Amino acid sequence: MEITKAKKEELSGLVRVYKEGFAEHNIFKQSYDKVVEYLEITQERDEETGGGYLIARAEEHLPGSTQFDSEIVGGLLISKVGEGSDGHTRWRYKHIAVAKEQRGKGIGKALIQKADEMVQQMIKEGKIKTARVEVRAAEGEKESIPFYEKSGFKLESTTEHYYRANEPMYTLMKFFS
Ligand SMILES: CC(C)(COP(=O)(O)OP(=O)(O)OC[C@H]1O[C@@H](n2cnc3c(N)ncnc32)[C@H](O)[C@@H]1OP(=O)(O)O)[C@@H](O)C(=O)NCCC(=O)NCCS
Repeated sequence: MEITKAKKEELSGLVRVYKEGFAEHNIFKQSYDKVVEYLEITQERDEETGGGYLIARAEEHLPGSTQFDSEIVGGLLISKVGEGSDGHTRWRYKHIAVAKEQRGKGIGKALIQKADEMVQQMIKEGKIKTARVEVRAAEGEKESIPFYEKSGFKLESTTEHYYRANEPMYTLMKFFS
């Protein structure tokens, strides 16, 4: 398994993973073309500030041959959401999903680890000073909270009536300096 920054032409490979992982999501339930358009717009926006999509590829043995191919099996978007005057920055990891048949193998954890490394690298290079990274989970995604906790996020707050009335939203965070 390999995790890399996504190139524009690779983004369409994420559609299957996101449609599977976020079947009820306003954006990902739209047509294939609309989802690709969204991925391209967000990639362009977030790349400008040091973020963008990460993709996980798994090697697949091609049936009936000795050849191997690689397939996109997971994705994560690193998005910068703000900056203070002292070099402090705020980030959000979004759209974290792993293809159903590949879950439970450490791919989600590896995506977060790679994203963390990229943020830490920016600190090392002096591009930013400190970083708060946030992840959010809707009520329907509550089962991902232990997954985030395993990757070092701490549950910080519960916000009532967020995405939908009568449904809380959970915010978890970690800090790098
Ligand atoms: C959440 C998701 C990305 C996890 O990816 P994954 O590749 O299956 O997770 P990993 O195998 O890397 O798991 C890492 C750790 O978290 C734990 N974990 C993963 N999912 C968990 C769950 N639902 N409940 C409890 N623990 C969980 C694993 O046991 C593992 O623990 P370990 O480090 O002690 O071995 C994946 O289930 C998914 O795509 N879900 C649908 C989309 C989604 O809900 N995304 C999050 C939106 S907020």
